Amino acid sequence: MNAPLVHSRPGLEVRNLCRSFGGLQATADVSFSVPFGTVTALVGPNGAGKTTLFNLVTGIVRPQSGEVFFDGERITGASAGRIAALGLIRTFQTARVFPGLTVLENAMVGGHRRVRTSPFAHMISLPSARREERALRERAEAMLDIVGLGRVRDTHAVELPMGSQKLLEVVRALMAAPRMLLLDEPAAGLNDSETADLAALLRAIRDTGVTVLVVEHNMALVMSVAEQVVVLEAGAVIACGDPDAVRADPRVIRAYLGAEADNQGGRP
Ligand SMILES: Nc1ncnc2c1ncn2[C@@H]1O[C@H](COP(=O)(O)OP(=O)(O)O)[C@@H](O)[C@H]1O
Ligand SMILES: [Mg+2]
Repeated sequence: MNAPLVHSRPGLEVRNLCRSFGGLQATADVSFSVPFGTVTALVGPNGAGKTTLFNLVTGIVRPQSGEVFFDGERITGASAGRIAALGLIRTFQTARVFPGLTVLENAMVGGHRRVRTSPFAHMISLPSARREERALRERAEAMLDIVGLGRVRDTHAVELPMGSQKLLEVVRALMAAPRMLLLDEPAAGLNDSETADLAALLRAIRDTGVTVLVVEHNMALVMSVAEQVVVLEAGAVIACGDPDAVRADPRVIRAYLGAEADNQGGRP
């Protein structure tokens, strides 16, 4: 059973966010919050404004009005680097792996955000730096194993199929020890077995207490991991609540879930 939301502390709070591009209102007065320790799914048809919302929250696009708070701190208009440093870590809809690095090295890059010893100590390979490197490597290997990428860890990341690159990007984001993870369509382009690996990883993430906001079209996946679902349509929130309530909302059925719910024939 998913945990109730009422007692949770607000992690991310989005208030009245607006952003348009030319004449197009991509984000129209969007407000919602993601309590710490929960998984929220952000769903909606293509062009609904999901990626724009991620860009607004992570400092890649500036809002024209409205505010964003993370753990009570106002982060509206802060740089992407500053927001990442607060522990708000995202992935992109199209995977971005580092070319020239192996799968394992790509995963380890994420962890270097929080390594404590100085770059100089790493350069001359002091024992403390070697210990940290080893710990980082072990953590990366364990996470790669969860998503089935352990056996290709020495392959160049760009040689992996797109689905595997997307899983790798989630692993790299996790290696940064995020307080909150924003995943933009992590299951897009994944086959069934990769999707099952991703679902296992998302549950593992949730169980370690990391807060997650995930854009996802796969309703079975959404229903199996999310405590809260926010539905966007044409830039506006048309529903927000627990998965069962949102699924039953007539506006949502009309706007988006109808066909999916019919195809799916019930809860997974
Ligand atoms: N940088 C941009 N310039 C112009 N239009 C944009 C830009 N980013 C997004 N849009 C437009 O905003 C709308 C919402 O896009 P997006 O946030 O990518 O939707 P989603 O992720 O829900 O599919 C789309 O019509 C898209 O074309
Ligand atoms: Mg998108």
